[in-house]
Amino acid sequence: MKSPIRVAVTGAAGQIGYALLFRIASGAMFGPDQPVILQLIEAPVEKALKALEGVAMELDDCAFPLLKGIVQTDKPEVGFKDANWCLLVGAKPRGPGMERADLLKDNGKIFIGQGQIIDAVAAADARVAVVGNPANTNCMIAASQAKRLPPERFTAMVRLDQNRAQTQLAKKAGVDLTDVRDIFIYGNHSPTMFPSFAHATIKNQPATKVINDLPWLQGPFCEIVGKRGAAIIAARGASSAASAANALVDHVRSLVTPGAIHSCAVKSNGAYGFDPNVWAGMPVKTTTVGSYQVLPSYPMDDFAKSKIAATNKELVEERSFVAEMIKG
Ligand code: NAD
Ligand code: LMR
Repeated sequence: MKSPIRVAVTGAAGQIGYALLFRIASGAMFGPDQPVILQLIEAPVEKALKALEGVAMELDDCAFPLLKGIVQTDKPEVGFKDANWCLLVGAKPRGPGMERADLLKDNGKIFIGQGQIIDAVAAADARVAVVGNPANTNCMIAASQAKRLPPERFTAMVRLDQNRAQTQLAKKAGVDLTDVRDIFIYGNHSPTMFPSFAHATIKNQPATKVINDLPWLQGPFCEIVGKRGAAIIAARGASSAASAANALVDHVRSLVTPGAIHSCAVKSNGAYGFDPNVWAGMPVKTTTVGSYQVLPSYPMDDFAKSKIAATNKELVEERSFVAEMIKG
């Protein structure tokens, strides 16, 4: 039996937390032979901490063989201590009518503090995955506070967008979901994101040929994927939760699976024209457990370049919006 890894999760008593923790404890994220210790972090709010107690009781009641311990805390320095993975979910979610930029000021502060504490107390091999919105810029903020952990250790989730795009292409083509491959998300987890359909394949044929409807791909397809989060908020009255938790399972599972090729928001190195120092979604290939390389050479036509320029512009704007905050 492997030794347990420590997985810290913020916002553990929230909606995503409730759909996520049981999947981690069951082995879906790190595999069926990897024991875990869950380090659950909540805001210092009585109601949230009480709810966390209930979640921990339910985890106990599942008798998961891989779950080797549960820490419950409102102190990040306790919750992130020796953590191998830090899953930053806790943040205020967007309500109806709000854009992610509205959240930056409130949520940005959380990620300053957490970035510093993770850097101080997490395990030497710590990896950080950010879900709390605006996820790309929150990830950049947390990474900006780290002196020990290199920026490549900080990733943000665009996997929900990849999953959404895959399903939309499958529905349009009338094929099974698993027939759709190589659909990647570029840029921000926001309506400006670009689901790059030109490289997608359906039954090993170019998706553009199979679907044969460029106006749909350039228009409604990009729009449906980009605005799916808002559509779910409008329908459910609350932000997506189960699908977001599922996407985080996929995000981390791919990052611990050498050879996996997947969309991930990572620090730009200039590939695809993204400004260095923004965290942008792009295709990556996992090299060794927890490490990856950007796949830099998918060709982009003028349409794709203009979409990437627009989402890059938004990321640069978000970064300038928090520039004072991250100066320290
Ligand atoms: P929620 O309100 O149900 O839960 C958030 C939890 O975070 C709450 O329990 C709250 O007490 C806790 N929290 C707040 N500040 C905290 C802090 N400083 N430390 C620890 N915990 C803290 O929200 P949710 O539906 O679980 O969503 C969480 C975040 O995920 C939101 O920002 C939401 O917008 C985002 N989200 C991202 C994606 C994505 O694809 N990147 C998808 C869906 C939701
Ligand atoms: C989503 O994509 O479902 C979430 O990011 C919710 C949101 O705020 O759009």
